[in-house]
Amino acid sequence: MSALAKLKEQNAEFTGWRRHLHQNPETAFEEVKTSDYVARLLESWGVEVHRGMAKTAVVGVIKGKKGNSTRGIGLRADMDALNIFEETNLPHSSKTPGKMHACGHDGHTSMLLAAAKHLAETRDFDGVVYTIFQPAEEGGGGGDVMVREGFFDKFPCEAVFGMHNWPWMPAGTMAICEGAVSASTDTFELKITGKGGHAAFPHDTIDVIVCASQIVSALQHLVSRNVAPSDSAVLSVCKFQAGTQALNVLPETVELGGTIRTLKPETREMMEQKFRHVVKTVADAFGAQVEVKWHKGYPSCINTPAETDFARNVAKAVVGEDKVFPFTPMMGGEDFAYFLEACKGAYIILGQGKTDNDPGLHSPHYDFNDEVLPVGAAYWVELAQSWLAPKA
Ligand code: NI
Repeated sequence: MSALAKLKEQNAEFTGWRRHLHQNPETAFEEVKTSDYVARLLESWGVEVHRGMAKTAVVGVIKGKKGNSTRGIGLRADMDALNIFEETNLPHSSKTPGKMHACGHDGHTSMLLAAAKHLAETRDFDGVVYTIFQPAEEGGGGGDVMVREGFFDKFPCEAVFGMHNWPWMPAGTMAICEGAVSASTDTFELKITGKGGHAAFPHDTIDVIVCASQIVSALQHLVSRNVAPSDSAVLSVCKFQAGTQALNVLPETVELGGTIRTLKPETREMMEQKFRHVVKTVADAFGAQVEVKWHKGYPSCINTPAETDFARNVAKAVVGEDKVFPFTPMMGGEDFAYFLEACKGAYIILGQGKTDNDPGLHSPHYDFNDEVLPVGAAYWVELAQSWLAPKA
C-alpha cells in the first residue's frame, strides 16, 4: 500500500487537527498554544522535540532505522495566522475575533504533522528527518530568526524543502520551478518637505504636491526602462498623503509610501539604487528636501536546480506525471527564502481548489481544503524516504 493510500485512510484524524488549529489561530511569535499542540502530538509518536528557537518554533527530529547515516533533510511548515476577521461562517470558524488562518498555515502544519506521524511509525530511511514548524511567516520573518539563531548548525540538513497550498490550482495538482519562486518585498516611506503657503501665491512656496506627483510619475519608469523585459519587478506607490480641508493652502509636506518587488538579487539592488537616485534628483529639481526610509523585506525565494528536479520527480510519483506543472514565479513574498539562502532546497506549490472560483489566500472567505491533507503529507513522506534512501 502506498504512503498516500495509508494517509488517506487517516484523513479524519488529520482533518480534526486542521480544524482545531483553524479555530485557534495565533499570529507572529505568539503561536504558543499552536506550538504546544504540535509538540504534544510529536512527542506522542516518540519524536524528539526541540523548542525555544524564534520564541515558538518546534523542530521534530526523526531518525531512520535503515542505517547509521547522519545525513539530514529539513521539511518546513509555517504555523501563524493573519489579522483578518473570518467571514466563512463555517462550524470550525476562528474563535478569536480578528485573527484567522486565511493562508492555510493550519493545513501546512497538519500536513507536516501527518507526515511526521507516518515517518515516526515507519522510520523506513537511513538518516535524519528534521520537521520544522516555524512561527511568523506572514510578517516578522520567523524563518530569518531561526536561521540567524543557528538552525542549520544545530540541525545539519543537506537540503530543506517547503510547500504552500494554492487555491487557484485544482486540488491534488502540484507546481514547481527552478530559480525564483517568490519576490523580494522591500517597502519605502518618503517624507517630502518644501515650503507651504497661500495657494494664490505659488511662486512664494515650494509646492510639494507637484514635486511628489513628479516623483510618483518618474518612478513608473524604473521598471519599464531599467528592468529587462525577460525579468520581472513591481513598483507600487500605495500611499500619498498631503494637505488639509483648507483648499487655499499649499501644504509643507507630503508623505509617500509603497513597495518594490523583484525576483533577482541583482535587480533588487539596482532598483533600490535607482529609486534613491530618482527620488533625490526630482526633489532637488524642485528645491524640496526628501527623507527616505527603506525597509528591507524578505528576499526572493530561490529554488536550487538539482533539488527542484528531485522534488518534481517525487511530486510526479505522488500525484501523477500529468498533474505536476511548471510554476510561474509570484510577486508575493515568502520567508522560506531565508532557509534557501542558507541551504539548498526547493519550495513547491500544492493545488487545493474545489471550483474555478475559490476564495484566494488572505480572503476572509478562504478555508483550507482538507481533501489535500493526505496528498501534501504523502509528498513529505516520499520526499524524505527517497532523499534518505538506504545506499545499496
Ligand atoms: Ni502563506
